[in-house]
Amino acid sequence: MHIQEVQARIIKNSRGENAIEVIVNKKYKASAPSGASTGKHEVSCFSDKGISFSVDFINKHPHFKNFSLEEFSDLRIFDSFVSILGGNAVVALQGACLQAIAEGNVASYLSSRLKFPIPLGNCIGGGAHSKSFGTDIQEFLLLSKMKSMEDRILLNRYVYDIIGKLTKAKKKTDEGAFVLQKTNEEVFLFLSSILDQMKDYGYSVHLGVDIAASQLYKDRKYYYRNSSQKKKILSRAEQIALVNEWIKKYGLTYVEDPLQEEDFSGFAMVEKKTLVCGDDLITTNIARLKIALKEKSVNSIIIKPNQIGSLVKTKEIVDFCKKKEIQTIISHRSGETMDSIIADLATAWHIPYIKTGIFGKEREVKLQRLVELENR
Ligand code: PGA
Ligand code: ZN
Repeated sequence: MHIQEVQARIIKNSRGENAIEVIVNKKYKASAPSGASTGKHEVSCFSDKGISFSVDFINKHPHFKNFSLEEFSDLRIFDSFVSILGGNAVVALQGACLQAIAEGNVASYLSSRLKFPIPLGNCIGGGAHSKSFGTDIQEFLLLSKMKSMEDRILLNRYVYDIIGKLTKAKKKTDEGAFVLQKTNEEVFLFLSSILDQMKDYGYSVHLGVDIAASQLYKDRKYYYRNSSQKKKILSRAEQIALVNEWIKKYGLTYVEDPLQEEDFSGFAMVEKKTLVCGDDLITTNIARLKIALKEKSVNSIIIKPNQIGSLVKTKEIVDFCKKKEIQTIISHRSGETMDSIIADLATAWHIPYIKTGIFGKEREVKLQRLVELENR
């Protein structure tokens, strides 16, 4: 594929922040999202000199004009630009070039056999994703395991709409989840009662959480504001005990970042009958995953391409996880764009889970893309 022209520009993400979009040969687009509860070990999104520097660099540098790309692995040539341009610029650049190589159909270009992921949908939330007073737990997640992708998505949305009707909640988090004046425990009980009733009708929807515990952590303690626990400031051991109690009591299928982002050995003490997932702990970084494997910290990890700043490195860690039998969850960010490439990557690379919300156009575009791929 001959790339004549690469153009970069600034667009707004779902939080109204500046984001980068790259357009190749005036036709193929990609953009990159940004987090609010970012991990300490993520690469930075843009150049130290700001997003405009990254955009101008791509637009002016002769390196990004008139070149050829034959296949996915050729995108590696951009990896070395992460330190100059930031991870978001490189991911958008590689995404747009990949769209061009694939002539707009990334999933079919990357694989002749697509496999569809289980969607994790954020239905109630708080933490760093809510300006108003929400739950301490950042995300309460629904996982429906229906046969078809379309039914999985519909069922998550059905439960989400029930929650909306029952609570009459008006406020939403950055990811479109409801913000409720309830404690963590009240939300667990509320969701369990809805999901139990669904089960009676033959619909199985599982419950998960992203605790995003680094956001609760300060001076070696975990601080809870909105909780019915007697103790609101917990030691590491108390935090581990509390998470294990939640797993047992509420039958959680999925627990993301139960402890702060440096505590590999603490993660190892969390009950592994469930998916214990590292997001801020791993930051899509293979070196950190190797530490986690040695310590037996996790059995699953979040995959966010802009955390590592490369689609090629993203593929490497996905492949490595398959070899090591670590489950992968490809994920949106709280500040999202209309880019839906993660849906294509999930289906082509056989990533078993996708976390991309339930509500809001930037989330729904990815879900619609999954349905479109299933129906073709
Ligand atoms: P972020 O949060 O996109 O704000 O980093 C999402 C998450 O923690 O999974
Ligand atoms: Zn997370």
